[in-house]
Amino acid sequence: MADDRLIVALDYHTMENAQSLVRALGASVSYYKVGMELYYSVGAEIVRWLKQEGKQVFLDLKLHDIPNTVASGLCSLMNLGADIMNVHASGGYTMMKTAADRLREEAARRGQACPKLIAVTVLTSINQADWDDLGQTVQIKSAVVRWAKLAQKAGLDGVVASPNEAALIRGACGPDFLIVTPGVRQAGDGADDQSRIATPAQALGEGASHIVVGRPIRQAADPVAAAEAIIKEISAVK
Ligand code: C5P
Repeated sequence: MADDRLIVALDYHTMENAQSLVRALGASVSYYKVGMELYYSVGAEIVRWLKQEGKQVFLDLKLHDIPNTVASGLCSLMNLGADIMNVHASGGYTMMKTAADRLREEAARRGQACPKLIAVTVLTSINQADWDDLGQTVQIKSAVVRWAKLAQKAGLDGVVASPNEAALIRGACGPDFLIVTPGVRQAGDGADDQSRIATPAQALGEGASHIVVGRPIRQAADPVAAAEAIIKEISAVK
């Protein structure tokens, strides 16, 4: 039985590779992330195919532009039926609120379910040196929590954030807010950057609602066994 807290990242640039992983994982995985690499290579077809296969889709295109352009772009993407879409919180309150309001209005007008809209707070790849170069003077963690609260005030359903900040965001934004944490790893892997410190179970224990796992499954000698190990690991976390 699939655990829809696990989202597998399809970071490929061909349909064939993406479809072959989805087919191999079969019923054990129900949620997939389609990001820039795959979407910009193969387009909308992959999202439509995943929906036909009965899968849930997080369309991770991280929109960032003026409010009207982001809102219109999301309304166009809504045709594909993705379950979660996202924008950059650094686009500001007005952009996020315009996007969330317009998506809801458009879904109601079409009589279809509104996709969840979440915000990227601070990219998990930003380290202290990058942050300082941007002229930022508050702590990264403070900015993440501030932007998560702003996203919630703007009517968004959640955020993408590092597992490191999941507990703070959960405390600030309450039990129903989505917290999607990428870059998590299976216990025993060597960390290759600062943000990749949590195992899937730890990320959920910290308050994440979903974990995004890519390379630990995709690059495993046996991706099905790797996914099953993660599903077993997270089954212990309620
Ligand atoms: O590292 P992994 O391959 O599991 O990453 C899965 C997804 O998580 C990637 O598609 C990427 O968008 C995201 N990621 C991230 N921050 C990281 C590592 C990965 O947002 N530090």
